[in-house]
Amino acid sequence: MATIADGRTLPFDWYSDPAVLRLERERIFRRVWQYAGRADQVAEPGAFFTCDLGGVPVVVVRGKEGTLRAFLNVCRHRGSLVCEGEGRRETLQCPYHAWTYGLDGSLRAAPRSDREPGFDREGLGLAPVSVDDWGPFVFVNPDADAAPLADTLGELPVLVAEAGLDVDVLRFLKRSSSEYEANWKVCSENFLECYHCQVAHPGFSKVVDVSVDAYVLEASPTFSTQYGPVRESWHGDFDPRGPISRGQFHFLWPNLTINLMPGHPNLSIGPILPAGPERTSRFLDYFVGPEVEQAWIDDMLEFDGQVGREDKVLVERVQKGVRGGGIEHGQLLPESERLIAHFQGLLLDALA
Ligand code: FES
Ligand SMILES: [Fe+2]
Repeated sequence: MATIADGRTLPFDWYSDPAVLRLERERIFRRVWQYAGRADQVAEPGAFFTCDLGGVPVVVVRGKEGTLRAFLNVCRHRGSLVCEGEGRRETLQCPYHAWTYGLDGSLRAAPRSDREPGFDREGLGLAPVSVDDWGPFVFVNPDADAAPLADTLGELPVLVAEAGLDVDVLRFLKRSSSEYEANWKVCSENFLECYHCQVAHPGFSKVVDVSVDAYVLEASPTFSTQYGPVRESWHGDFDPRGPISRGQFHFLWPNLTINLMPGHPNLSIGPILPAGPERTSRFLDYFVGPEVEQAWIDDMLEFDGQVGREDKVLVERVQKGVRGGGIEHGQLLPESERLIAHFQGLLLDALA
């Protein structure tokens, strides 16, 4: 894996340069597995949901015979988005000129096309992309010939299971969305270290031991993991006692966060998506185990929400600094920020 000499960060102008984002879209986001949504959204035949994978619009559909499929959500006529939101349909019809596709993506009807000699419906189906799942989580890869999702997930499902969490019985709570005036890499790098926790997350640090000797950072080929044990004498507003004895905060390359707070069975999962060179969209799907009490859930959501609000301020401040010019790069702490170095190495490899 590539490394940057002397523990430097990426060049600061990579965090605002539109040309870098174009390259990232082409060389990263068009060829990686990304979390798209939940299996319960496409449980029934004909059910679909749309998603945007860092600039690549996709629709995920459950076929009549039960097969899960995904396509670029781009009309083969003149490029309109075909579907919006989620729902259930017999066919997928583009709202512009009513080209109509089957749930298998084939073009079934195009008004007036019978009067156009030589019009060939065959080659004009929606473009298929790869789709796969892990428990209730649906993943999509814009590369139609992608290697199986399991290759990318690696040991990650094992680590989650070892925490005592059965993903197959999770109950979906809610999706929480947020926007940031910051590059997606600023947001990702913020997730990848807890060096800032003691300084910037006082509530979190009362509960989770963020000290350098207790908080564990582990890099795997396709993901990284942070383990946050509960403080022996926690005294925050959130009660972290329960079967999950320490927090797990995973980051699956290039942009997916998967979080288990200590306490009762819970998991949140969601991507960090570039919405522009200096703009990021995120969402998190929150799940809990079947028997977790609402009062604990409310406390956990508030506890996590507070961390999120604090991070938003931090990353937007970073963006204002790195965009300014004048300073060429930053300096990483080789130990406390080694997951950022790992992320930057994967990024360099992908862009090379
Ligand atoms: S763009 Fe879809 S039918 Fe014309
Ligand atoms: Fe943070």
